[in-house]
Amino acid sequence: MRPGHTPPAGYSIPITRPWLPPLGEYVQQLDRIWSSRMLSNFGPLAVELENQSRAYLGARYLLSASSGDVALMLAVRALDLPPASRVLVPSFTFNSTVNAILWNGHRPVFVDIDPETLNVDSRAISRRLEGVGAIVATHVFGNPADIDALVGLAAQAGIPLLFDAAHGYGSLHDGKHVGTFGTAEVFSLSATKPVTSGEGGMVATNDPELAERIRYLRAYGFQNDYVSRFVGLNGKLSELHAALGLLTMKRVEDALAARFRHVVAYRDWLAALPGISVQRVSSADRSTYKDFAVLFQDGFTRDRVEASLADRGVQTKRYFRPCHTMPAYRAFVDGPLPVTESAYSRILCIPLFEELTDAERGLVCSIIEKALARPVAVRSRRRDAIAVEGCPQHAA
Ligand SMILES: Cc1ncc(COP(=O)(O)O)c(C=O)c1O
Repeated sequence: MRPGHTPPAGYSIPITRPWLPPLGEYVQQLDRIWSSRMLSNFGPLAVELENQSRAYLGARYLLSASSGDVALMLAVRALDLPPASRVLVPSFTFNSTVNAILWNGHRPVFVDIDPETLNVDSRAISRRLEGVGAIVATHVFGNPADIDALVGLAAQAGIPLLFDAAHGYGSLHDGKHVGTFGTAEVFSLSATKPVTSGEGGMVATNDPELAERIRYLRAYGFQNDYVSRFVGLNGKLSELHAALGLLTMKRVEDALAARFRHVVAYRDWLAALPGISVQRVSSADRSTYKDFAVLFQDGFTRDRVEASLADRGVQTKRYFRPCHTMPAYRAFVDGPLPVTESAYSRILCIPLFEELTDAERGLVCSIIEKALARPVAVRSRRRDAIAVEGCPQHAA
C-alpha cells in the first residue's frame, strides 16, 4: 500500500482515487486568496479557471458552477423551454442528468442506448422526436456520444441539444474538444473526475444569450446589483475549490496519458479472454475513460467476477444503475429499455486511476482471468434479470 493511502473500508485497490498536487502548490494558491480576501463571487481564481478552460476546450463561453449537478440544472433552466416539456434522455446515466430535467419542471422521456458505445442510441432518438422540447445526451464515461447524428437530429427538429459532459473534460470528437458541441455542454469537477476541484462544475457554450442567462442564474438571479432578473440559485464556485481546479486542470493531458497507459494494458489483457468486451470508442474520438467499463457475456459471469474481485479486496462498480429502474422516476417509465437493462446486468467498472500501479492492474486482470476459467455447473437465467420498479421484470 502507498504511504498515506487509506483505501475504502474493506478494499485494498479502490475503483478510483483522486490525484492531488503537492500540498505546497495548493498552499501557494491559497496565499493568493489570503491576499485578495476574495473567497467566492467569481474572484481571480475562478475567473482564471474559466479562462484557462475556455482556451483549452475552445468554447466561446465558459461558466463555472458549484457542481456538475447544479451546472446541469442551470443549463436546462437557461434553455427556457415551455413548461412541462418532454425531454429525451438516456436512462443509462447518472441521475443528475434526469434530476436537472425534473427540477426544472420538465418530463424525462427515457431512450435506450447503443450496446457497444453505451451512449444514447441516436436511431432511438430519431424515432421519438415528435412533440419533444429538447435532447439531453451523456458522454458516458467520457466516450463522446454520437455527436454528429444528434446535432443533425436536434437541428432537424429545431430543438436544443444539451450534453452531459460530466466525464468528458479532455474528450475529443474529430479532433475537437467535447465542450464545443450542441447548444451547451456541462462538466463536473467532482472528486472522481480526472480534473477536479473537489466539488465543481462548468457549462461551456457558444451561445451568448444562454451564457448570459446562466451568468445571472448561478448568482441568485442577479449580478452584484441585487436586482433579480431570473429565479436563480447559488451556484457559485468558491475560490478554495477553484484553487484546486487550477492545479489539476493544468496537467489534464498528463492525467489522461497516465489513464490511457492503463487502458491499453487492460484492453490487451482482456482481449484474450472469452466472453468479454469493453466499451467501444470510435476511432475518430478520444474518451477520458473516467471509468473503465467491462461487459461480460451474461450477468451470471459478471456476478462471479465481481465476487472474486471483492474477495481479493478490489473495489468495482455496476455503473450506471439505469434511472428508469429507480423509484424516483417510476412515473416516467413508458416501457422497457432492453439494451440498457442488458448492459446494466453485465457491466462492471474496474479500478482505473492515475496512481494505479502496474502490479495492481495485473492483479485485477489475473483475478478476472481466474474467475472466468473456473468451471460452472449451472447457469441461472434469473441472474440476468433486473428489477425494474414500476414495470414488469425484464429478462436481459
Ligand atoms: C454523468 C454525470 N452527470 C452529472 C454528474 C453530477 O456531477 P457533480 O457530482 O459534480 O454534481 C455526475 C457525477 O458524477 C455524472 O456522473
